[in-house]
Amino acid sequence: MLPSVFVSRIIPDAGLDRVKAACAADIWPDDMPPAYDVLVQRVRGKDGLLCTLNDRIDAALMDAAGGQLKVISQMAVGYDNIDVNAARERGIQIGNTPGVLTDATADLAFALLLAAARRIVEGVEYIKTGQWKTWLPKVLLGGDLSGATLGIVGLGRIGKAVARRASGFDMRILAHSPRCTPEAAAQVNAELTSLERLLHESDYVTLHVPLNVQTRHLINRETLALMKPSAILVNTTRGPVVDQRALYDALRAGVIAGAALDVTDPEPLPADDPILQLPNVIIVPHIGSASQRTRDRMATMAAENLIAGVNGQPLPNPVWT
Ligand code: GLV
Repeated sequence: MLPSVFVSRIIPDAGLDRVKAACAADIWPDDMPPAYDVLVQRVRGKDGLLCTLNDRIDAALMDAAGGQLKVISQMAVGYDNIDVNAARERGIQIGNTPGVLTDATADLAFALLLAAARRIVEGVEYIKTGQWKTWLPKVLLGGDLSGATLGIVGLGRIGKAVARRASGFDMRILAHSPRCTPEAAAQVNAELTSLERLLHESDYVTLHVPLNVQTRHLINRETLALMKPSAILVNTTRGPVVDQRALYDALRAGVIAGAALDVTDPEPLPADDPILQLPNVIIVPHIGSASQRTRDRMATMAAENLIAGVNGQPLPNPVWT
């Protein structure tokens, strides 16, 4: 008999076809994720679960699933939605999809950085609202990247990929990353420093830390106040790394000049959220990994983790080893 699994979203065929071939798969058919209670019911009796960052996977869900649940395979690199300790206590393996989305996410961070620095969205609006009457020497002036200082908070895989891009743009790079060595930072032309100095000296600050108890609201009223009034904040990691209320106030009061966000708190961000009314904010809907090739690779990796796990094998990409 094939192992039974629940797949909480329709993922790209590259992964889904593998899952269907190797497992008896119950696949959630809607774009909207299953409600928590529904997820709990559908996981009951299954050997494996393939989930996404929208699904809350806690101890109660694991217990409701039953002792046969062997693996939780997350189609994302971040897994702050999963109670990892509860899984470990129950002997459930967890897999994620690191590496394959590094470049796509770094590309998006850079796209947001450029868009905010050079006021791309405002420029598009300017035309659409009929304001483009002539070439004006002093309109829509933005900031330069070359010669400017980029502060990278979290110099892991994605942070380093952002640093490599920044080197190509002739930027000076500061990084704050407690677990990184100065030698590893130097390989991507970054100088390690304290968070305070990074915020104080950077023209652009980009966040690449995972969300956990240490990083929740790392960017808050106090840390925003350390930034330059001309600085731009880019966030492509998880919304709650930034205290969004404090960011809103800082953007309104001119404490910093702008923000470009791929992630928000909450997600999805309601269309009437006041932050969307601010002229100095660009927000896109959590699309860091959203390139065709990257999503195919993530789906494949998630399927491979799931299939290995339900067959009692070590995962190709475990969250812990
Ligand atoms: C996306 O946000 C991911 O963690 O993969």
